[in-house]
Amino acid sequence: MQCVALKVQDLSKHFIIRKSVFSKKKIINAVNKISFEVKQYESLGIIGESGSGKTTIANMLLKLIDSSEGSIELFGVNITKLSPDAMRSHRKDIQIIFQYTHAVLDPKMTIEELIKEPLEIHKVVNEDEYDAEVDRLLTMVGLSSSERKKFPSQLSGGQNQRIIIARAIATRAKLIICDEPVSSLDVSVQGQILNLLVKLKKELGLTYVLISHDLSVVKHMCNRIAVMYQGEIVELGETGKVLSNPTNPYTKKLIASILD
Ligand SMILES: Nc1ncnc2c1ncn2[C@@H]1O[C@H](COP(=O)(O)OP(=O)(O)O)[C@@H](O)[C@H]1O
Ligand SMILES: [Mg+2]
Repeated sequence: MQCVALKVQDLSKHFIIRKSVFSKKKIINAVNKISFEVKQYESLGIIGESGSGKTTIANMLLKLIDSSEGSIELFGVNITKLSPDAMRSHRKDIQIIFQYTHAVLDPKMTIEELIKEPLEIHKVVNEDEYDAEVDRLLTMVGLSSSERKKFPSQLSGGQNQRIIIARAIATRAKLIICDEPVSSLDVSVQGQILNLLVKLKKELGLTYVLISHDLSVVKHMCNRIAVMYQGEIVELGETGKVLSNPTNPYTKKLIASILD
């Protein structure tokens, strides 16, 4: 039986902002009572326009920020209230692939050091195996060991995105959250990175939550999609069904935008 990799129930995030100590508090309901499930080996796409709450969901799933209410279960374990210490043993099961920007990879670290970092943190292999493991991971993401001593600034955007992917799979993660994994790349390179994600999913038996503002990106990758609008999931279902019979006006608009 396919187990449930991720179960999210009534999850919300309210940001309280105050421009200065004198101004009134303002509450932003970035994510509002969303619920969804992802079965193991499945790919769920989350689409929605900029500001609809997608990255906030990713940050809550990774526990990079606390949620305001609701619960998150990761492979049957409720991680919602786990302390950073208790979360540590689950951290390697769930990884994130960020959109490549210069802020994601430390420019002072070599490619070799960047890939070794998660191996060390999560003690994935013994120290004497680091070198072979870095080579293995580079090959898996379509790069060669000749890149090892280079810095991110010496690689292209697509190659750096591959390094980010190598770091995510280094921990042997079972569930990977991809937040706009190709948005910063040229269209020609986007396809190559998406193909790489498909290949790795097959080879490693991964489960994906693929977040994008671009419906054409999730359309071919995901068997189910959730459509976000202003912090809420307004439509959730099998990709084919949602696309052929959208019920929500926002989903209809999204679909129209990829047809032209
Ligand atoms: N740390 C934060 N403090 C205050 N507001 C935030 C913070 N992070 C995100 N937001 C707000 O929450 C909403 C959702 O943002 P985000 O999750 O980044 O959307 P998306 O990834 O879909 O573009 C936006 O209105 C954004 O301005
Ligand atoms: Mg975002």
